[in-house]
Amino acid sequence: MAKKIIYGMVGGGRGSQIGTIHRKALNLHGKAELVAGSFSRNIKNTLATGKELKLDEKRLYKNYAEMAEEEGKRPDKIDFVVIVTPNNSHYEIAKSFLENGINVMCEKPLTVTLDQALELQKLAQEKDLLFAVSYAYTGYSMVRYARELVKSGKIGEVRFVNAQYISEWMAKVPYKGKIPRHEWRSDPNISGLSNCVADIGVHVENLISFVSGLKINSLCARMDKFIEEDRLDDNASILVNYDNNSKGIYWTSQIAVGHENNLNFGIYGTKGSIEWSQEHANYLKLSTIDEPFKIISRGSDQINDSIKTEYVAPGGHQEGYVEAFARIYDKFVNAIHKKKQGEILTSADLDFPTVEDGVQGMRFIEKCVESTNKGCVWINY
Ligand SMILES: NC(=O)c1ccc[n+]([C@@H]2O[C@H](COP(=O)([O-])OP(=O)(O)OC[C@H]3O[C@@H](n4cnc5c(N)ncnc54)[C@H](O)[C@@H]3O)[C@@H](O)[C@H]2O)c1
Repeated sequence: MAKKIIYGMVGGGRGSQIGTIHRKALNLHGKAELVAGSFSRNIKNTLATGKELKLDEKRLYKNYAEMAEEEGKRPDKIDFVVIVTPNNSHYEIAKSFLENGINVMCEKPLTVTLDQALELQKLAQEKDLLFAVSYAYTGYSMVRYARELVKSGKIGEVRFVNAQYISEWMAKVPYKGKIPRHEWRSDPNISGLSNCVADIGVHVENLISFVSGLKINSLCARMDKFIEEDRLDDNASILVNYDNNSKGIYWTSQIAVGHENNLNFGIYGTKGSIEWSQEHANYLKLSTIDEPFKIISRGSDQINDSIKTEYVAPGGHQEGYVEAFARIYDKFVNAIHKKKQGEILTSADLDFPTVEDGVQGMRFIEKCVESTNKGCVWINY
């Protein structure tokens, strides 16, 4: 029998946010096991996190470079690494694991510049390694169903998109010296060119591209900074034109008091529309010109079995953020497994967000910044 896929993690130490979600998702998925880590730049934290997770101390490393090199030499090296550190470190970390022959799952935004992202894309190709980027919202069942509806022509040709990822957390939390992940997101040396667009705006860009298949060909952005101490944007309004002449408007915010994690979209076509919201992820609203609108639930019979997987509870039970991550991992881990067996991967095997999506995210951020800096003018892609 083939051995279980094994993985390591960089970042995700005690007190951090997203690393634990990745581990929970991989546990839920059940086909990969954590065996190595450099969970923090502080070795004490790495050792304590590793002990809590019952890892062999020999596979706890003082930094990512040592981990990439040592793991790369092992006959039983990790099959992939999960990178869950702040933005400015993604590039160097991903590069060193790729150079040591290890597949990568990296958090978004992929890097802090488009050039770095393109370099990683090229390196992954040269090394023939799999590279996923955790745009996890594309893992929700109803998002995948929305993609099928658009593809099937149910709403006709898309004319307009209205999408938002709005939250309130930066308006609520006094951050100076208190919340490291608030502080680093607002620090250009760590976050990169943007805070809000890079942190959550890229999810909107990726989600709409995933569901609609539309490609942006120009945009006009205004990135705002409302909180005085913030050094980067905490809110942005972005107009977009797509390649089929359809149009869109994106609003992304961390100061939208009253909204916890309100990621939602409406896609409006010549024959109908689809609306979905992350905070009510089990449901999707489908409207067509000639019929009354319908609220379709995840449990309904019309949802294709390929969308439902064994780790998602039956309809009527809520599907959540961790399950969405798990679905991305389902595809990614299965692809690694199949590739290890020497089988050829098909496009269906590669149906997870890849380094290409990461590159698109970086292009989006840079174009938004360019537009804002030039006085909110239209910028071609
Ligand atoms: N996909 C999503 O929905 C989602 C959600 C939240 C965060 N993120 C992304 O995940 C990344 C991490 O965000 P977070 O909120 O978890 O940050 P965080 O500050 O809570 O955690 C970062 C962790 O990385 C560790 N770290 C930093 N540099 C390191 C290094 N060189 N080696 C090893 N460990 C190192 C820190 O000690 C900490 O444990 C960011 O890029 C963020 O944009 C994505």
